[in-house]
Amino acid sequence: MKQNLIDIAYLVSAILFIYGLKRLQSPSTARGGNRLAALGMFVAVVATLFVQNLLTPVQMLAGLVVGGAFGALLARRVEMTGMPELVAAFNGFGGAASALVAGAEVARFLAPNAAELMGGSVLSGADAVTISLSILIGMITFTGSFIAFGKLSGRISGNPIVFPGARLVTVVIVLGAVGALAVMVSGAGDFATPGFPADPVVQAALGIAAAGALLGILLVLPIGGADMPVVVALLNSYSGLAAAATGFVLDNTALIVSGALVGASGLILTTIMCKAMNRSLLNVLAGGFGGDSAGQGGSASAVAGQTVNATTPDDVAILLSYASKVIFVPGYGMAVAQAQHAVRELADELAKKGVVVKYAVHPVAGRMPGHMNVLLAEANVPYDQLYEMDEINGEFETTDVAVVIGANDVVNPAARHDTASPIYGMPILNVDQAATTIVLKRSMRPGYAGVDNELFYNANNQMLFGDAKESITEVINEIKAL
Ligand code: TAP
Repeated sequence: MKQNLIDIAYLVSAILFIYGLKRLQSPSTARGGNRLAALGMFVAVVATLFVQNLLTPVQMLAGLVVGGAFGALLARRVEMTGMPELVAAFNGFGGAASALVAGAEVARFLAPNAAELMGGSVLSGADAVTISLSILIGMITFTGSFIAFGKLSGRISGNPIVFPGARLVTVVIVLGAVGALAVMVSGAGDFATPGFPADPVVQAALGIAAAGALLGILLVLPIGGADMPVVVALLNSYSGLAAAATGFVLDNTALIVSGALVGASGLILTTIMCKAMNRSLLNVLAGGFGGDSAGQGGSASAVAGQTVNATTPDDVAILLSYASKVIFVPGYGMAVAQAQHAVRELADELAKKGVVVKYAVHPVAGRMPGHMNVLLAEANVPYDQLYEMDEINGEFETTDVAVVIGANDVVNPAARHDTASPIYGMPILNVDQAATTIVLKRSMRPGYAGVDNELFYNANNQMLFGDAKESITEVINEIKAL
């Protein structure tokens, strides 16, 4: 009866996870999807605790209140731009939890009263393998995620940190982990010398935990701070794998299903991000691209002999007011300037004058997946005005003005033809095909990829220098005064 109840609860939670994930596909249904998935997790946790008789209802309620309050506080306080950091920390805790649960299983199998505790079963070779994987992947996720957290929050240098012989050290650690796994498997079922920490199985488990912790650090340290969102997505996938492995250890279907969903979706997200940046995952993991200076502009750069046209808010106001169709192209600079509300207000003013306004969103504009969508949604920009790159790229030819708000790499035409450019092959928004482009940024410094943008030197381009929010506010005032 108990088992039937828990099976039904797990089935319900798996359905909620999958349906919730499906609803994350569109910004309009994403919030509801998130709630459904959270409800699924709640059902799974409560069912497990009730059926296993692990806690009293009062203890459960206390846990719920403390954990819920902590989560709500964190979610309220974190800035949108701090989201990758928060996700990195959550991934790290997820990995640590998987490793700890697998470690507790080792302790249970090796307890003096193990036969009684485990209903007569002994640690099998298969158990030893799943426990080892759970500890290894969990620890890699734990330390890797906290290094990523440190780099994203500026507590650790965002520059790639490399030291001589790192590859050799990594190989030695991997071999050590494989050796420890062999000891775990060969020691499984042998209770001749049970106890902590003398038993070889316990020592092997501790060895695997140490190897995982070191591998997580070595994996993430050489990667530049600006590539951390990709690393966080990958570590998210690892945390799912660790949870799924723990699910096998505990024979828990809910954990296997949720772990597999996280593992697969994290990997899909990683692949999408790499594709949109036109880089392979190996290239990201090899590191050395985009350190601290990236995104905040490295050295000032200008192509020799070329000049740019600078413009003013009043000229931009006139140009926009007399246009029929305007496309806004937001980028990382809009997030830095927090200009999304001003952009929405400008769009409203233009709409009053009969101008058709659309927004073009590049898949890797900004610094995290969905960065621009989230900011524009926060400013209540109607979803039907947001267009993905493939939907809108054909429309720039018939657009009067494309307004580039703090975007740089995602509109660099060099990606289409300059084989020597590091961003060659990256799909871009074809803003250069619009009759006029206006670029809002503070200087001529490059963006994340650290390369100059030939768009800025086009005859039909005008630069509106300054903080994006201040510039747009001035343009709005000029339009109102017209
Ligand atoms: P970037 O190419 O990084 O350019 C951002 C521009 O914003 C900079 O050139 C900067 O110029 C400007 N800016 C900064 N603060 C500003 C402010 N307060 N006001 C006005 N402008 C400001 O951004 P993008 O076009 O969005 O491209 C994103 C890049 O990040 C791509 O290369 C992508 O591959 C990479 N990336 C993205 C992700 C995800 S998932 N989105 C993850 C990792 C890497 P100034 O300094 O002159 O103002």
